[in-house]
Amino acid sequence: MRFVVARLADFPAETRRLIRVGGREIGVFRVGDRFYAVRNRCPHQGGPLCEGNLASRVASTSLGRVELGDGSRIVCPWHGWQYDMETGEPHAPGDPAARTYGVAVERGPLSPAELEPVGHAEIFDVTVEDEFVVVDA
Ligand code: FES
Repeated sequence: MRFVVARLADFPAETRRLIRVGGREIGVFRVGDRFYAVRNRCPHQGGPLCEGNLASRVASTSLGRVELGDGSRIVCPWHGWQYDMETGEPHAPGDPAARTYGVAVERGPLSPAELEPVGHAEIFDVTVEDEFVVVDA
């Protein structure tokens, strides 16, 4: 099922939203023009993963050369485990992965039968011509 998180214009870069859908908390992050959605539960000991700082992957492609990634890793605030926000892949091989979700920007009008607005129990028959951030959870 897909859920509307916000209008694109109301979701500035370098911010995050915490949404609750189907009994789960999901953090939705905008890093530059990229979006990520991660469950707010760390696979290590259940910490609030989406309250953590963001970090960049650092990779060395050759001796003396270091490349910095795009800030798409999240660091759990409890014990510092890190995860890729797109794939959920842990920093340390063999550790359990974080749960991630598809997230996209979609242009309206949106069909109320197709999308669930987050935080609302009732759905009204309206259409809005705009761009929206949508999570597939
Ligand atoms: S609970 Fe997240 S690192 Fe331990």
